[in-house]
Amino acid sequence: MPQMPEKTPGNTEWFVHDRFGMFIHWGLYALPARHEWVKKREMIPDEKYDVYFRHFNPDLYDPTVWAKAAKNAGMKYFVVTTKHHEGFCLWDSDLTDYKATNTPYGKDLLKPMVEAFRAEGLKVGFYHSLIDWHHPEFPVDCMHPMRNDKEFRERTKGRDITKYAEYLHGQTRELLTRFGKIDIMWFDFSYPTQPDGGKGRNDWQSEKLYELVRKLMPDVVLDDRLDLERGYDIKTPEQWQPQEWVKVDGKPVVWEACQTLNGSWGYDRDNLDWKSPALLLWMLVDSVSKGGNLLLNVGPTGRGEFDERALATLQAIGKWTRVNGRSIYGCTASDYTPPPDCRYTQNGNRLYLHVMAWPLRHLHLKGIADRIEYAQFLHDASEIRIFQNTFDHSIEKDNTVVLEIPIQKPNVEIPVIEIFLKDR
Ligand code: GLC
Repeated sequence: MPQMPEKTPGNTEWFVHDRFGMFIHWGLYALPARHEWVKKREMIPDEKYDVYFRHFNPDLYDPTVWAKAAKNAGMKYFVVTTKHHEGFCLWDSDLTDYKATNTPYGKDLLKPMVEAFRAEGLKVGFYHSLIDWHHPEFPVDCMHPMRNDKEFRERTKGRDITKYAEYLHGQTRELLTRFGKIDIMWFDFSYPTQPDGGKGRNDWQSEKLYELVRKLMPDVVLDDRLDLERGYDIKTPEQWQPQEWVKVDGKPVVWEACQTLNGSWGYDRDNLDWKSPALLLWMLVDSVSKGGNLLLNVGPTGRGEFDERALATLQAIGKWTRVNGRSIYGCTASDYTPPPDCRYTQNGNRLYLHVMAWPLRHLHLKGIADRIEYAQFLHDASEIRIFQNTFDHSIEKDNTVVLEIPIQKPNVEIPVIEIFLKDR
């Protein structure tokens, strides 16, 4: 088996077992429906952006529907944006008026969501933005919507980041004391080395924030975006797939790729860049085959629903995970080298061969002739026959066996062959 990551402060045991989670990006940006960075990209001042606050009323919001969609897709945990860069809070925070309870919707959105997902057996994760384009003490910088407004910058140059840090820590305390056990804390993001003044560990007072998190929720799985060299539990490649097990200083670490359905985290109505279920499943399998997790995002609409494209994608993913989940949950990378266009995942003596491109009749498995005992399609448990030194493929060395597969690819997005290995 491959070298395993060293223990980190948080409890990642359940995390590396569960492998697959739902990211949820939801806030006022669902109304402009043009990406969650719309305020920054279009340099929208607060007084204009407030129209979305005044019209935020997700009357069709039912988190039990969301939780069931996540569970049925085979997701085992979720991470929701409690507050994104726009500064709007989903919960009834004591520290701001810029929250869901003050919109026409008038209620806390976070508590019922946590309860609904917990009721479906999913672990609970909070994303919390370090950045806050609405807070009166957050200094304007290269990322800020008002970055090019000289008058605004002049007028606000006295902003005190230590006051903002106090707010950031205070809200973190609320999030980690009001909603029961939180399994993942996902801060986002630090940018210390920007030309026009970025923000990092000193601005967030990250060391102090880290101590607070560990005091309130010692086992929580903490991401790597506080601009700290130590203490985090997971690396978080975003919108790209690592080519191998993610390493830090040459050692494998626990990692999770966070990915979107269409390139946007927030609801993006006119976006046509939707990934197919086959591609998304490939990303899930590929992540696990390299010892990682996949956190797949949904951006709910301003009515409080997952849009039909997201729901259809989640249903297609669930159709696959329902019968092939055994090749994902509890699995990790394998030391064996798979055939071309295939991925291996492994869980003890169970080796799972994911066939990404369907070849003609044969799969040549190198290096396992001495251990293979039996093989079957995972989706229907039908036998896959194993041959050795039978076909004149002039390659049957290297401890190779040949699996004979049907000409017709089974009606499964990514067919999986479950291989039973004899004990070493
Ligand atoms: C990036 C994006 C942010 C998103 C996050 C998710 O930081 O800027 O909008 O929430 O990735 O990982």
